[in-house]
Amino acid sequence: MDNVSESLPESSQSFWREDIDLSSFSSLQEDMEVDVVIVGGGITGITAAYLLTKDGVKVALLEASRLLNGTTGHTTAKITAQHGLIYDEYIQYFGQTNARLYYEAVTEAGNFIKKTIDSLGISCDYQVEDAYLYATTDEYARKLQKEYEAYQKLNIPGELVDDIPFSIPVTKALVMRQEAQFHPLKYLRVLVEETKNNGGLIYEETVAVNIEKEDRMIVHTRDGYRVKGKQVLICSHFPFYEGMGLYSARMYADRSYALVAETKETYPGGMYLSADQPNRSLRSIIVDGKEMVLVGGESHKTGQGTDVMNHYRAIEKFAHDLFTVENIPYRWSAQDLTTLDKLPYIGPITENNPNILVATGFRKWGMTNGTAAAQLMSRIVLGASSPYESLYQPSRFYADPSLKNFLRENIDFMKHFMKGKLQFPKTKVKDIQPGEGAIITVDGQRKGAYRDETGELFVVDTTCTHVGCEVEWNSGDRTWDCPCHGSRFTYKGEVVEGPAEKPLQQHHFQMLDNYTSEESGY
Ligand code: FES
Repeated sequence: MDNVSESLPESSQSFWREDIDLSSFSSLQEDMEVDVVIVGGGITGITAAYLLTKDGVKVALLEASRLLNGTTGHTTAKITAQHGLIYDEYIQYFGQTNARLYYEAVTEAGNFIKKTIDSLGISCDYQVEDAYLYATTDEYARKLQKEYEAYQKLNIPGELVDDIPFSIPVTKALVMRQEAQFHPLKYLRVLVEETKNNGGLIYEETVAVNIEKEDRMIVHTRDGYRVKGKQVLICSHFPFYEGMGLYSARMYADRSYALVAETKETYPGGMYLSADQPNRSLRSIIVDGKEMVLVGGESHKTGQGTDVMNHYRAIEKFAHDLFTVENIPYRWSAQDLTTLDKLPYIGPITENNPNILVATGFRKWGMTNGTAAAQLMSRIVLGASSPYESLYQPSRFYADPSLKNFLRENIDFMKHFMKGKLQFPKTKVKDIQPGEGAIITVDGQRKGAYRDETGELFVVDTTCTHVGCEVEWNSGDRTWDCPCHGSRFTYKGEVVEGPAEKPLQQHHFQMLDNYTSEESGY
């Protein structure tokens, strides 16, 4: 396959984000008081703002960078209740009633998206498709069989089939019929406009840094402004404020990769996800009026993969194995958060803080889970009851698997925390080529250096400003990534993705050519 890797685009850029123009909003420049402060401008924050303003609630939505620039802008945008191999596991951990409730919550969220599209007349490439979870080994065929039995126990419609319409050696596949896919930003752009028309206030480039509790909640911004509200909804992917809820110790970040391939063959329809690892995902996507294929996969724990470009090459090879690929116009990566028991945390941040609500840990299923979170939080704000409130309660703690996973995640955290601090670079800074990044040692201190295409060197402190792990160079996206909770920084040290709020410290060193560097990447 000679053309594998040469056909990848030079830089990573999400198709969704590039495809449409979104209104831009100014940053907050004054103190203010509203009913509800929403932090985070992805699908959860925007949907919650839309729902609340529709009900006459005065809302201010604060986004740290640009709206829809985070996980929502990098999704594969499947609207399905088939969230991988999960229902059998949920029955074991939470019981049949709760597993069924989860199915109902995400199905209701999918129906809400469809209803909203219809009622507002949104044109967003919504297509009804069957969702397939497929296995390529006997071991995973057995797991699919168990998952199918879980579907039957939970009364979830599904079928086991022997094949899918690709040249993949499938041992079994589990189908959920009549699910859907769409263009998430075309959909959410309209919800943003609706929120604005309903009197919602939206601010971009406004970083929330803390919450103070008085008679009302006060969100403090990095620029020194205060936004008061009765309630705060934290929809910022990783919660920007943890409020003693120990979220850093109760979640881990996964990174996965996607590309868009223009193929000679016509796509046969359907949305596909492999049950076995390394995972693979397929769906069609409309690019400039032409149907192409969105290929995804290579999911790994942040900081525990190989060189980032190897992951892109692996999904590229998968695309070439299945199709005659004529062009790959886009590639990008996404980061998702998983909780200790794989069920999202949605609700009061701790038992003692009923007016600070959090929504996080959607795994890879942000379209339905994000919408379900917005629905649940809006109901809580409006004082209405929801059947899903206790299911998602963030203060839940199941001894198994939570305790086991709590220990595992925090041993992982300590490993990353120490590993970075003990690594010493070996090669010279002058060997860093244009477009490359590496770890260097400056006066005994670990620093990160990136040389841009013009030869200019950018040096940052590699200690993550969240809780102090050491960032690593991501050669695919040209960012500094933190292996502990997934914060990401540009080569200049600016925050791309939290939970870190502060940039990496920048250094302006002269004459660095004799300092040493180490080959980096993960
Ligand atoms: Fe938590 Fe870096 S230490 S994201």
